[in-house]
Amino acid sequence: MNQKRVLSGVQPTGALHIGNWLGAIRNWVDLQNDYETLVCVVDLHAITVPHDPTSLAKDTLSTAALYVACGMNPNTCSIFIQSHIKAHTELCWLLNCVTPLNWMERMIQFKEKALKQGDNVSIGLLDYPVLMAADILLYDSDFVPVGEDQKQHLELARDIAQQRINSRFGKGENEILKVPKPLIMSEGSKIMSLCDGKNKMSKSDPNENSRISLLDPPEIIKKKIKRAKTDAHMGLEFGNIERPEADNLLGIYSLVTGLGRDKASDECSAMGWGMFKPILTDAVINALEPIQKKYSDLIKDRCELNRILTEGEKRAQEISESTLKRVKDALGFLN
Ligand code: TYM
Repeated sequence: MNQKRVLSGVQPTGALHIGNWLGAIRNWVDLQNDYETLVCVVDLHAITVPHDPTSLAKDTLSTAALYVACGMNPNTCSIFIQSHIKAHTELCWLLNCVTPLNWMERMIQFKEKALKQGDNVSIGLLDYPVLMAADILLYDSDFVPVGEDQKQHLELARDIAQQRINSRFGKGENEILKVPKPLIMSEGSKIMSLCDGKNKMSKSDPNENSRISLLDPPEIIKKKIKRAKTDAHMGLEFGNIERPEADNLLGIYSLVTGLGRDKASDECSAMGWGMFKPILTDAVINALEPIQKKYSDLIKDRCELNRILTEGEKRAQEISESTLKRVKDALGFLN
């Protein structure tokens, strides 16, 4: 197949939130129509910080079901579980051995997460971006649709492919690993916390009220938006750096309604927070309703979920095995 290829993934750490959807999954849904698309649930990444073994499998399955509920079509794209494809960890090891340690120490997310872990930082956390590079490079991915926070990890994957594999072990024009491009959307690529417009919405924020999960029932969404941080000004607006909460919530409104920035900002420019919040609440509830409905049907149908994941795994196995062989051959391993 000569079609260009897209690969992406989400960690099954807790419930997916609207940032994951608006910043990444929404883009996958569009891209699957034009490219061969593979999306995986990156469960190996989920154990790089302390995790709960009693919920990992459940969260992994739930994340896969959410991909479909959000609009990924299992008949045209491949959905699979990262840990089911052994080539991810094997390629990660090969890449580990050529990646300089100081490239890893520069990673912003590592520094942020390491701060939170204190003395408990695992080697896995430091190595996380190399595993992510392996995820991407194994599939000869042309494009990787992600949110803004993954940009540095994508650059690392490109540098490893180009500088550490292709230029060291490649012969002539033929590249061993394809150098991928990030696809970051112009809108929605950084949805901020409901409690602080200067902080990213995140699954790991201990405050549940900071995010809207894709499976939050309407009354919880209502409560979270009611409590969301506001300011003392009238009128919702974009781009005022002194009003990050207004920018963020208006942005969410424009995306979930599909109105776009201009229309959303015209509609809300004279509204006070008291009028805007119920409108935003309804818009979010309406946008999530079809996702929640599809999810609740699919999660009960374990047979169908297994079928989807088995199909996805077959395709992932096929592509990843041939890439891994190419890299091992280039590095000189005995066949
Ligand atoms: P993760 O699980 O943290 O997030 C999944 C995707 O959601 C995006 N995202 C956001 N977008 C907008 N606003 C936000 N507040 C927000 N929070 C998260 C992320 O940018 C991401 O696209 N390392 C990755 C997972 C991964 C991966 C890969 C991605 C592992 N291997 C290979 C692509 C390709 C991560 O932790 O994403």
